[in-house]
Amino acid sequence: MADMETVTMADDGDFSKDLTGGTSMADAYGHSSILCDVLVIGAGFCGITAIHRFRKLGMKVKCFESGSGFGGVWHFNTYPGARVDSEVPFYQLNIPEVWQSWTFSERFPGGPELQRYFEHVDKTLNLSKDVIFEARVVDCSWGESELLWTVKTRQGHQAQAKYLVICTGLLHYTFTPDFPGLERYNGELYHAGAWDGQYSVKGKRVAIVGAGSTGVQITQEIGKQADQTTVFVRRPSYCLPMHQRQLTVEEQSQLRPYYPALFKAGRQSHAGFPSERPQHGMFETSAKERTQLLERLWEVGGAAFALNGYNDVIFDPNANKVAYDFWASKVRRRLKDPEKRKIMAPDKAPYYFGTKRIPLEYDYYEVLDQPNVSIHDLRSAPFKTFLEDGIVTADGKLRTFDTVILATGFDSHTGSLTHMGLRNKDGTDLKDEWKEGVHTYLGLTISGYPNMFMGFAPQAPTALSNGPTCIEAQIEIVVDMVHKMELEGVRRIEAQPTAEEEWKASIDEMVKDTLFPFTNSWWNAANVPGKKAGNMLYVAGIEHYEAACRAKLDGWKGFDVHH
Ligand SMILES: Cc1cc2nc3c(=O)[nH]c(=O)nc-3n(C[C@H](O)[C@H](O)[C@H](O)COP(=O)(O)OP(=O)(O)OC[C@H]3O[C@@H](n4cnc5c(N)ncnc54)[C@H](O)[C@@H]3O)c2cc1C
Ligand SMILES: *[C@@H]1O[C@H](CO)[C@@H](O)[C@H](O)[C@H]1NC(C)=O
Ligand SMILES: *[C@@H]1O[C@H](CO)[C@@H](O)[C@H](O)[C@H]1NC(C)=O
Repeated sequence: MADMETVTMADDGDFSKDLTGGTSMADAYGHSSILCDVLVIGAGFCGITAIHRFRKLGMKVKCFESGSGFGGVWHFNTYPGARVDSEVPFYQLNIPEVWQSWTFSERFPGGPELQRYFEHVDKTLNLSKDVIFEARVVDCSWGESELLWTVKTRQGHQAQAKYLVICTGLLHYTFTPDFPGLERYNGELYHAGAWDGQYSVKGKRVAIVGAGSTGVQITQEIGKQADQTTVFVRRPSYCLPMHQRQLTVEEQSQLRPYYPALFKAGRQSHAGFPSERPQHGMFETSAKERTQLLERLWEVGGAAFALNGYNDVIFDPNANKVAYDFWASKVRRRLKDPEKRKIMAPDKAPYYFGTKRIPLEYDYYEVLDQPNVSIHDLRSAPFKTFLEDGIVTADGKLRTFDTVILATGFDSHTGSLTHMGLRNKDGTDLKDEWKEGVHTYLGLTISGYPNMFMGFAPQAPTALSNGPTCIEAQIEIVVDMVHKMELEGVRRIEAQPTAEEEWKASIDEMVKDTLFPFTNSWWNAANVPGKKAGNMLYVAGIEHYEAACRAKLDGWKGFDVHH
């Protein structure tokens, strides 16, 4: 439980121009109520970006964060093997004070290094004084008479703000499927998104449920430590080789002068990684050239094979098949066990290549191939029931386990937003509103929610892009909107429902000719039963997205504006 003492009006520093008075009032219970210009919820990459950029505007900013530290996903996902799959230098904030004084040690940094990075960010930007930790928001309501949001936390904090900026994460609210009998299991049970950092699997028989990005990372580490590991796979990931390597301080010092250019190029790219992309399709080149390019991209490692290949892989089933077959031939060579090969890299692709998040790996397939690691295919025999000490599958097999690890992902995109008591101006919870389907305007705001903005939320490039790049593009737009409101004396803006319909139509149009709609995944919210699946993403990339949003600012297109 949080300590109520944390609700203090910490010194407000030199960010003094404050529009709402910036005072603190005690409520009937003696808790102080915070009054600020901008209230940010969440302190991961997105919340930090918002705090920093609104401060620069001279506004008084406060932040509620449910965790006990900065970092968001990197604060919570402390499972063994947690690692970034965006390459240095792109997975960091484009804030010169911060990047000038920081070096990473690996091309793809691990979770603990990311945590140290966030401590560095905090120190450099003096963030802590404006963040209230262990403050889980459970109630947000708009007051039309005073034009303020009132926000309350489970721990009893309260704040009022003119602008509400929600940075609660795409992958925060963990998802546990309704497995039969799970409540009966009384061994060690963990969800990867809420890991107990102290737990060791040495000498244990471990079940890992899931083979998505997290399942891959966990299997790669746990499979080396546990006595016996069984991986339950519903659908294999198409992992690409990470080609991890150490980075020296010198090479980063040499590259650092180019960071501004690289970050800028990231913003002007599709996925946030500047890259050269062939301007032609798979079959417009000779078979020999094709193989040469694919081999070269494979050697580069990381996401190169997925991002820098031919431009029709995600549109043309035949081009997609070439990519899959190339991938599968590489992977099959690393799996000696024919049964394992059949599950992890089957002859026929179980779904189109690149339509589900592609994890990076270093020795995932070698670990899977170990005799003390077995793979169970849930497509041929689903779970029948969990028992007190094990799992029975539909083929009648009973396996006993000391530990079950659920790498079953998140109630992605909407989970955070629909579990925070966020109510529209008429008092309806977003949870109920979005049962009929998600609606946003620009992926940044919602009709019925005046002066409220979101970052890294549905209907934006999010999951298909490098997190920080997408977040910075979005938050800069939000900051510019608020700045424009202040300059023009606008007191209240609200998205129009018709503008939301147009936005949805435009993003659905983008995905229409691609192969994405054929694959159910968390990318389209189809991983949670009962949740209305649909396209959650702006697939045309960051550069187009930013231009599309900015085009609406001039003349406030799609907004109702009150002076
Ligand atoms: C294991 C893992 C690895 C990833 N690796 C990559 C990668 O390599 N590259 C990449 O581009 N992306 C990656 N991602 C995606 C990741 O979501 C983004 O990169 C980025 O971290 C998102 O930052 P955020 O601030 O938007 O959200 P988050 O980091 O999720 O932060 C949201 C914060 O909001 C807080 N919050 C939520 N609800 C409430 C509430 N009601 N009250 C108060 N606080 C609340 C949470 O506690 C959390 O701290 C990864 C995600 C995961 C889970
Ligand atoms: C942070 O605070 C320290 C002293 O408390 C100060 O020297 C420093 O300039 C501040 N940094 C920023 C970015 O405000
Ligand atoms: C599991 O098998 C691998 C490969 O055979 C071996 O190196 C490792 O020591 C084994 N692990 C345990 C804990 O027995």
